[in-house]
Amino acid sequence: MTDILAVQGISKSFGALKAIRNLSFSLKSNEVLGIAGPNGSGKSTLFNILTKVPFGPDEGEIRVAGESVSGLGPRQIVERGLVRSFQTETDFETLSVIENVLVSMPDSDFRSGKAASRQRAREFLDYVGLAAQQDRPASEITVYDRKKLMIATALACRPKVLLLDEPAAGLSRPEVSEMIELIKRINLGGISVIVIEHIISLLVSVSNRLIVLNFGELLAEGTPQDVIRDPRVIEAYLGPAAAHE
Ligand SMILES: Nc1ncnc2c1ncn2[C@@H]1O[C@H](COP(=O)(O)OP(=O)(O)O)[C@@H](O)[C@H]1O
Ligand SMILES: [Mg+2]
Repeated sequence: MTDILAVQGISKSFGALKAIRNLSFSLKSNEVLGIAGPNGSGKSTLFNILTKVPFGPDEGEIRVAGESVSGLGPRQIVERGLVRSFQTETDFETLSVIENVLVSMPDSDFRSGKAASRQRAREFLDYVGLAAQQDRPASEITVYDRKKLMIATALACRPKVLLLDEPAAGLSRPEVSEMIELIKRINLGGISVIVIEHIISLLVSVSNRLIVLNFGELLAEGTPQDVIRDPRVIEAYLGPAAAHE
């Protein structure tokens, strides 16, 4: 399988703080890569760097489908197929649910007229289970529905690689199960996925491979089952005593 995403030696500092340190990894076509790591380990910063929202790396190289994105801006990176959702809900609260999807769709979706573009937007909402909410203001729907709306708006950008930042944070157990199924369905539809999550059961369920960040560095990489048993990973999450119990 070819690498849809290749990250080589990227770093990012905020003043004296090295948030990402010489990080390299790759994502194969149709793979789901999970990313775990303690709070502040640089996970969200990694997504910021990959999408250049708001900044790229200080050094290192990012390739999407074999081509460097170093000269590209955020919009061009989306056009290349790298699309993220955010850790906190970032939909437009003053717009309706369906309008949020419409503003994310590429210009090419509007060439066949208004009715066709609304129909397309409804299909994305239907895919995540939000069709019944389409005319409600985004500010009025539940946290879970807003997470699904963020995913629908990301899908409307036609990603090749979907970057999900804590898609299950704050959800109830049944909602987490549904989110797991949604991520699997998106992946089966041919989209490669990188998912950051603290909920280990989600990472184990959806990921082909798991990496763990600690202080901006790659701490561990492997199958989910191996990585969650790695004493270095347990120590990073729970402290030195836990790893030796
Ligand atoms: N824009 C920024 N300016 C300064 N420091 C930042 C910025 N973004 C993130 N950081 C810092 O970088 C580190 C990694 O943050 P983050 O990537 O959000 O961690 P995670 O998502 O793993 O919890 C933290 O110490 C955080 O305070
Ligand atoms: Mg984060």
